[in-house]
Amino acid sequence: MSTERIRNFCIIAHIDHGKSTLADRLLERTQAISTREFRNQMLDDMDLERERGITIKASAVALTLRRGETEYNLNLIDTPGHVDFSYEVSRSLGSCEGALLLVDASQGVEAQTVANTYLAMEHDLVIIPVVSKIDLPQSRPYEVLAEMEKTLGISSEEALMVSAKSGEGVDQIFDAIIKYIPPPKGDPSGPLRALIFDSEYDAYRGVIIYLRVFDGSLKVGDEIFMIKTRRSFKVEEVGVFKPKMAPKNGLFTGEVGYCIANIKSIHDVKVGDTVTLNKEKAEKPLTGYRQPIPMVYCGIYPVDNADFKVLREALERLSLNDSSFSFIPETSQALGFGFRCGFLGLLHMDIVQERLERESHINIVQTAPNVTYEILKTNKEVIRVDNPESVPPVNEIDEFREPMVRSSFVLPTEYLGAIMQLAEARRGRYKSTEYLSEKRAILVYELPLAEIIFDFFDKMKSATRGYGTLDYDLIGYESADLVKLDILVGGKRVDALSTIVHKKDAEVRGRKQVKKLKKEISRHLFEVVLQAAIGSRVIARETIKPIAKNVTAKCYGGDITRKRKLLEKQKEGKKRMKSVGNVEIPQKAFLSVLSID
Ligand code: GTP
Repeated sequence: MSTERIRNFCIIAHIDHGKSTLADRLLERTQAISTREFRNQMLDDMDLERERGITIKASAVALTLRRGETEYNLNLIDTPGHVDFSYEVSRSLGSCEGALLLVDASQGVEAQTVANTYLAMEHDLVIIPVVSKIDLPQSRPYEVLAEMEKTLGISSEEALMVSAKSGEGVDQIFDAIIKYIPPPKGDPSGPLRALIFDSEYDAYRGVIIYLRVFDGSLKVGDEIFMIKTRRSFKVEEVGVFKPKMAPKNGLFTGEVGYCIANIKSIHDVKVGDTVTLNKEKAEKPLTGYRQPIPMVYCGIYPVDNADFKVLREALERLSLNDSSFSFIPETSQALGFGFRCGFLGLLHMDIVQERLERESHINIVQTAPNVTYEILKTNKEVIRVDNPESVPPVNEIDEFREPMVRSSFVLPTEYLGAIMQLAEARRGRYKSTEYLSEKRAILVYELPLAEIIFDFFDKMKSATRGYGTLDYDLIGYESADLVKLDILVGGKRVDALSTIVHKKDAEVRGRKQVKKLKKEISRHLFEVVLQAAIGSRVIARETIKPIAKNVTAKCYGGDITRKRKLLEKQKEGKKRMKSVGNVEIPQKAFLSVLSID
């Protein structure tokens, strides 16, 4: 097909503004899937995505649209809307010429609407504004249009009004895509240049590469060469997603699809790399992606140490499918052998943990998350610290620096005061307020990232009754008065419970944390002392009184099945326990620092 009849586009929006539902309608209208096959939110094919109702991975699908005698090939790349996944969004944008910018008619412009629109502008995409969910009784499409005009500089005359639920306005979207989004440029007869925008591991077929062809073509039997990894493979199959994989004899300039080439090692493929041909190599690679920097770290350990290898394999598989996630082995006195894992944010961390447990059937213990710090040592060396354990002794620290973010809140004006109070309590620095309309505003604060990764989102949501949204960008590192807070259980320091906190909060946090731990650790046959300490100075103490407990005692004379049930229940509870000395600490306790207010 000539590139003239190809359109590559994505849908960008704030979370829950209706991207997946609209994608479903587009698929249905182009009969990419039969009604029998149709499941709601077809593109969200990961079970976890469907359960949580959010899109985690960007997916690609090829649609065939007939207009009279002409057949168009529309490639839709679905993108996630959550702040943690903006890296996936920018990857999809690099493979498109245009974007549908969706804004919910009942919600209006939100934090990720603004962030994603700027990303699309940076990639020079043609933006088609779409007001969605116009069927909702509480929809206010014209106010929303005015907000889009004011904040995003988008002309409201160009906007489309759509209900993905009733199907109203969906056909106009196709017309606009064909009319306004330019066909891909590129040299069909030049040497192959294709951008890897995603990859996936299949147990039977090896690595499946998702790519967009910018120049030349790729056919079965070709020998490909990957410019960054410098590896060669023979192509076994190429094809497009419809949305299931549909093999073709070749992928041509402007097309989006997949390539299977008997690649067995996940390390041979790098997202952002350029694929070319061995026999005729392209001289210059395409502009790849900036490697995303994980901002949040935590330790992940198998409950049963024998599962270490299984955990490592599961992490490797996950990291291929999700290049924004990183991991390196570490050991903890309390937890044994495990990994220090880096994530883009808390939601990302949650999802990785759930995918790990589901996909590899092992029980894991996760430690409280922390951000990456920079420490200037007295010997003038600067080190990066992504684990409280690697903080050097106080006398070796010249300056402790923490990452700062510029955070934008979009919220109804009546909640401005509440959010300002919250941001100030979290060491925030006020920057500006901009009004979207009489009723809504964008509030900007600079905040330490560490203050956001705890329970900030929940606090912000409840302070704005669910109406506030937040997006943030890293702006750099700043010096701060930070200390390492240690927790001792039975006189032994538990490395996995150490955290880095601001000096002014240390005492309060320490007191609350030992109180919380007291609730989570069950009573033992002996007294258990819990302490919080900074260096050698103990700042808080609690004791758990001993009890003599025999779970089966109450079953004497009773029937045996009941006794067995009780023992089973106790075993179940132990699955997520880790022993420190002779004290058993449940998984929940390792995360107890997360909500200590
Ligand atoms: P993420 O993938 O999590 O970013 O969400 P999304 O933007 O893909 O939103 P999704 O399509 O999952 O829709 C969110 C909710 O809005 C779902 O409950 C949909 O049923 C509902 N929804 C989507 N489009 C419409 C619409 O046109 N009208 C109405 N009434 N509801 C809609």
